[in-house]
Amino acid sequence: MGQLGVDFPLRVGVAGLGTVAQALIALLRENSTRVSSQSGREIHVTHVASRSAKPDVDLGSASFSTDVRSLVDQDIDVLVELIGGVDDAYELICEGLRHDISVVTANKAVLAAHGNEILALASNRNCKVGFEASVAGGIPIINTLNTALASNQVNFVAGIINGTCNYILTAMDESGTSFHDALSDAQMKGYAEADPTFDIEGIDAAQKLAILAAMSFDTTIDLNGVHTEGISSIEVEDLRYARELGFRIKHLGIAEKNSHDLDTRVHLALVPESNLLSNVRGVDNAVIIGANAVDNLMLVGPGAGGRATASAVLADIIEIANGSGSAHSISRSDSAYSSIDDVSCPHYLYIPAADKPGVIATIGEVLGTHGVSIESVIQKHEATRINNGVPWVPVVIVTNSVLESNIESIVAELEGLEIVRGKIRRIRVVDF
Ligand code: HSE
Repeated sequence: MGQLGVDFPLRVGVAGLGTVAQALIALLRENSTRVSSQSGREIHVTHVASRSAKPDVDLGSASFSTDVRSLVDQDIDVLVELIGGVDDAYELICEGLRHDISVVTANKAVLAAHGNEILALASNRNCKVGFEASVAGGIPIINTLNTALASNQVNFVAGIINGTCNYILTAMDESGTSFHDALSDAQMKGYAEADPTFDIEGIDAAQKLAILAAMSFDTTIDLNGVHTEGISSIEVEDLRYARELGFRIKHLGIAEKNSHDLDTRVHLALVPESNLLSNVRGVDNAVIIGANAVDNLMLVGPGAGGRATASAVLADIIEIANGSGSAHSISRSDSAYSSIDDVSCPHYLYIPAADKPGVIATIGEVLGTHGVSIESVIQKHEATRINNGVPWVPVVIVTNSVLESNIESIVAELEGLEIVRGKIRRIRVVDF
């Protein structure tokens, strides 16, 4: 037996040679002493496969192939899936497990679509599947839920789990950058998905939330149970009004247990500026876990980017090397998902209204007949605009707590009034 405890190295095959794979190879080299001491053995990348060759990347002594599937026929202990996408990744992961090779993946899309089957297969083959990097980049959220908080009952998890959305909202809020310029910038910096619709329409966050909810509440992964909204309807003006009212606007993923049901949703939210999530800026992610022994705790850090994601991938490889952790475990039972209609919270309403006396009273009357009161209101005459010769002003209201189904009928009723001159924007108000 060698000095480190196990005298044979862990042999790793890496599928894909994009930003994360390159960062993984570099990190393994850079932190080799620490990695070996944490693993109790050496970790060697022995094979790399990617559809396109990248001769400039230093692979050390690893062999290279453009046939990604050939990796499972090599003598490897761990297959690191970094090819992305769903179908090919799913096939590769399953093939690896059928060859009794443990798997590490950063791929939330494949886990959201097929995680239950993958984890069942891993358990049958007595293999591990590590997926720390699939949620919130460099933040060790999976490990925290699985291991560090294994003694707790989780009540909720909530947070900022899409770096691109947070980057866009921060740029719009702090610099008045337009949505499209902020998105182009996020794409240039490599934060956004290949198809940025996945980020801005909330799909990426929903995939991550489905995984988080399963880990937090010992249920199967159910992407279809997640109510999903994106950020593309937001205007710089909403962020300004939110600030004036003492809030910031964030895109959140929320999973909460209510008696028997699980409420999982992804949407924009006004968060009080006193809430720690309000100060999470740029590409950073943050997750608050509410649990019955530790109460609330929050993890913050980079949610995207090669090096941060590689850090999480390598942590999973180390766990497999030293035989610790519970990277392969997931439950278990189905859970009843509640409908968004059952959610009750205050709402921000941006109402394009006629610029004449009595407008706020009329709006207040409609809200009042539905049992809803106004917590705050802003109307500024200097903000008057003209649409087809008709002047209008934004009337911004924050309501008290209203049931989702109720606010939808209120908005429809308001939009039917002669004094309302366009579509109302509605954003939920959330606090923890
Ligand atoms: N596009 C993702 C994000 C990358 O912006 O958070 C990390 O999953």
